[in-house]
This record gives sequence, structure tokens and C-alpha cells, in this order.
Amino acid sequence: MKPPVNRPRRLRTTAAMRNLVRETRVHPGQLILPVFVAEGIDAPRPISSLPGVVQHTLESVKAEACRVAEAGLGGIMLFGVPTDDHKDASGSGGVRVDGILNRALRAVADAVGDATVIMADTCLDEYTDHGHCGVLDARGRVDNDATLSLYAEMAVAQARAGAHVVGPSGMMDGQVAVIRAALDASGHTDTAILAYAAKYASAFFGPFREAVGSSLQGDRKTYQQDPANRREGLREALLDIEEGADLVMVKPAGAYLDVISDVAAVSPVPVAAYQVSGEYAMVEAAAHRGWIDRDRAIDETVTSIVRAGADVVLTYWALELAGRLR
Ligand code: PBG
Repeated sequence: MKPPVNRPRRLRTTAAMRNLVRETRVHPGQLILPVFVAEGIDAPRPISSLPGVVQHTLESVKAEACRVAEAGLGGIMLFGVPTDDHKDASGSGGVRVDGILNRALRAVADAVGDATVIMADTCLDEYTDHGHCGVLDARGRVDNDATLSLYAEMAVAQARAGAHVVGPSGMMDGQVAVIRAALDASGHTDTAILAYAAKYASAFFGPFREAVGSSLQGDRKTYQQDPANRREGLREALLDIEEGADLVMVKPAGAYLDVISDVAAVSPVPVAAYQVSGEYAMVEAAAHRGWIDRDRAIDETVTSIVRAGADVVLTYWALELAGRLR
């Protein structure tokens, strides 16, 4: 038997050698922490399906935002959780100045200013009593065009409240264009748009629905994408870029690495990926049972998302990871 001439193992012989040739490095500056802020609670409230994640109060979210800035994270993405009596058919709680998310944005902006990037989820699902991401027509279907003007109003309200970035996540056609136009017309030309460009109708959003107390009736399959479609993910991203998206996002991340890779290959704007609640919960649950090495699994999943081409990663582990990466 002739000994092999090519020995890739040479570059794996020591930790120092592996460090030298590592192709993918995750940096705290590219991580974004998603954070929930709930109305009507006076202490942070744990979310049972997301162990380690809480719903914040308007007070405790300020401290969390300071931790984000101090850890050198890329940013914080805020979600509002209104009380049930602040939900209605048109999701008006998302638009009103005193809506929970707009109040949270102001609190965070006061606490950290420009020390980190403040982002807002621009979607109606937390605020509608039926739980859909848009308003319904007479036949109970999500009405794309009637929803657009509400998104535009919501984005402007969020920019006014202090968001550096708005994140339309409702998958309505044309949402980026109307939001860009409304922001510009109201003088918010510097407010950026992180478009949830390729968002799939995913089982991995399950724990999030508990986190925001969603009352979803039915499913989101008429607006979120079919998990079977890869080409369509690229189309959605290209449309959003054409409409003026400053960053485009693929979501979920782990089960859609091919889509991240496709988008990253051609996108002229930074590509983000959202490691969603179900991805987090799976690792936490398996680790809790001793079935998986938690820290290694976290590092591996986030590294894989960056390796696939994501410039920015939203993950509930952002703070913990930043601590470990230092
Ligand atoms: C919609 C929205 C969802 C998530 C972020 N924004 C849920 C959905 O589409 O049902 C999911 C995030 C997660 O699962 O971590 N506003």
C-alpha cells in the first residue's frame, strides 16, 4: 500500500494549527439579541418553552440593552407583547405611540442611545386579536394591500420612537417599498430596513408564539413560504433588495442554510439569518436531558449559519456567546 501524498490531517494536529486555518470566525459584533417586552407585568417573566429567555418589563429591558452594548453585540431586536385588551382586528397597538413596542423603543433609546443598534419588529401579529400578520378581508383572508399602509405607519412610529432599524417580518408583497417611501416622506431617511426577505412557514416558530402570547387562528401558509422552495427564497431576497432593503434576512436559519448560501452568493447588501425559537429550544431541551453537549452544539449551529454566508445572526444565545468569544 502506497502512503497517501495528501494529508489534510496535518492541519488538524494541534489546537494552535486548527486555530490558524479556521475558515469561519464568529464575532460578537455580528450577533443580534432578540428581546421581548411585555405590557402589564412588573417583573421579568420566564418563557417556559425558551428556558433562559424572559419577557422583559419596560424597566428590565433597559438593563438588558446596556448589557448588549457592553458586550459589543451588533444590536438588539425588540418585540412587543401587548395585553389581550390591547389587541384588535387591525393591530392598532403596534402603531400607537403608547403601544408597548414603541414605549420599549423609547426606553431603550434613552438607556443606550447610539451605543448599539436598536431594531424593531415591524409586524402586526402580536397586536391582532386573530394573530395574523396583517388585516383580514371580508372572507377572512390576509389582505396584502390593506396591510401595507399599516406597516408604513408602524415603521414611521418605530423610527420616531428611536429605532435605528425597522424589521418588516410579515411577508406582505411590496412591504419594503411602502416602508421606505413612508420613512423618507417623514424625514427618516437614515432609518434602515432589515427585510425578513425569505421567511418560511416553519414549525420552528412554535416557542415564539408562546413568548408573545400569540392567538393565531389557522396558519401563515398564504404569506410565509413553503419550506420546499429554495429558488423562491432567492426571488424574495432580490425583490426586497430592489425595493430598498438595507439588509436581507433568511429565517429560520439552521434548516435553511442552502437559502442563506444562495442569497449570500449574489446579495449586494448584508445578509442576516434568524436562529429562531425552535432552534434554540431543541438544543436546550436535548442538553437538559444530557443528550447533547450544550455549548458545543450552540457554537456549532451559529458557526454553521455564518459559514453558510450570514453576515449577521439573530440568536437568543447572543449575550452568552459574546461572553464566551471574548
Ligand atoms: C412575526 C415573527 C415571528 C418570529 C419573529 N417575528 C413568528 C411568526 O412568524 O409566527 C419568530 C421568531 C422565533 O421563532 O424566534 N412577527
